[in-house]
Amino acid sequence: MLEKIAVIGVGKLGICFALNLEKAGFEVWGIETQAEYLSSLQDRTFQSQEPQVNEMLASSKRLMLTDDIECISEQEITDIFIMVATPSLPDGGYDHSQVERVVAKLQELPSSAESRNLYIGCTTMPGYCSELGDRLSAFRYTVSYNPEFIAQGDIIKNQLKPDQVLIGEANELVGERLQAIYERMVENDPVYCRMDPLSAEIAKLATNCFLTTKISFANSIGDLAVKAGADPNKILSAIGSDSRIGPKYLGYGFGFGGPCFPRDNRALGKFGEMLEYPLLLSKATDQVNDEHFEFQLQQLLANEKETLIFEGVAYKKGTSQITESQQLRLAVAVAQRGRKVIIRDSVEVIDQVKMLYPGLFIFEPEPSLAN
Ligand SMILES: NC(=O)c1ccc[n+]([C@@H]2O[C@H](COP(=O)([O-])OP(=O)(O)OC[C@H]3O[C@@H](n4cnc5c(N)ncnc54)[C@H](O)[C@@H]3O)[C@@H](O)[C@H]2O)c1
Repeated sequence: MLEKIAVIGVGKLGICFALNLEKAGFEVWGIETQAEYLSSLQDRTFQSQEPQVNEMLASSKRLMLTDDIECISEQEITDIFIMVATPSLPDGGYDHSQVERVVAKLQELPSSAESRNLYIGCTTMPGYCSELGDRLSAFRYTVSYNPEFIAQGDIIKNQLKPDQVLIGEANELVGERLQAIYERMVENDPVYCRMDPLSAEIAKLATNCFLTTKISFANSIGDLAVKAGADPNKILSAIGSDSRIGPKYLGYGFGFGGPCFPRDNRALGKFGEMLEYPLLLSKATDQVNDEHFEFQLQQLLANEKETLIFEGVAYKKGTSQITESQQLRLAVAVAQRGRKVIIRDSVEVIDQVKMLYPGLFIFEPEPSLAN
């Protein structure tokens, strides 16, 4: 009976997933190497900005948190999610070294009677999971790919009510097993998209490439409309009313940013390069994002007010993430051109911006922007 599950790497994504699995009735073993963070999870003092996480963590009874990967063999756990970070490399690809460190430890565990199933939840370069699966088969591990489509600020909700569950299965039986875990956890009726790991890795990156393309399309039509003296919002709302297109991610606003969209878009471009297939959309989308930034900057500078106010500079309202935030990039560019800039945001965001740009801004804490 499938009862125990391990989640290796209980960071932003992993802790939410572990809590949702626990809520579904599994006994969950969260394995984490950052000592201070781990002890704050163990004594339940950790405070997350993600909705519901603090309450779920405080009341969790069957979520064990440890730095000892040997719990996997001791507890005879055969379903293991890996959710460590995969930072971007300068060439746009993904760095799998944290996954490799986990794998090296897993190889040292005493072998089990049943084979162990690894589900890679990290974003990877296409081809990585199959290659890893080939390497690990001698150690009786299967490797499947199972990425998440979540937005920060909504992680718990998105995991419980996904549109689709993408499963790049090592084999059909493992795919069934993974689907069964999700069927027990989710609170809706998602589409289960099952395929080989390589196809799933491409599907993950391509989904985000499509969204960045849609955002860049909306912003370039919006900029064109402004130049022409037309109404960008009315134009985009008309386009989005066509059911073949839809209104989501088709507003006129800031360019795309955050920890996922830009990275996945570039990684797909990098994968194209590796196959000598120039994926023009990936590059064009990034270029349009930069051109839109310049357009917005010129508009802000044309504003004659001496002081400009930015209401929130996180890449998305309700989060404290400033990674590749276009809002912050604009605020910096305006301030560096000698304008007085006031940033209104949560204390978490203000603290990060202060560290990065000492003395550049005036800050007004705005608790309502925290969540
Ligand atoms: N956070 C998101 O919004 C998001 C969305 C989609 C996909 N992803 C992908 O999910 C993966 C995880 O992202 P995240 O944002 O949760 O990262 P994170 O950095 O917040 O969490 C990773 C955690 O893994 C831990 N860790 C590292 N090495 C370990 C090891 N050997 N053993 C145990 N724990 C270890 C780290 O200490 C950290 O707490 C990445 O590949 C990311 O691209 C993230």
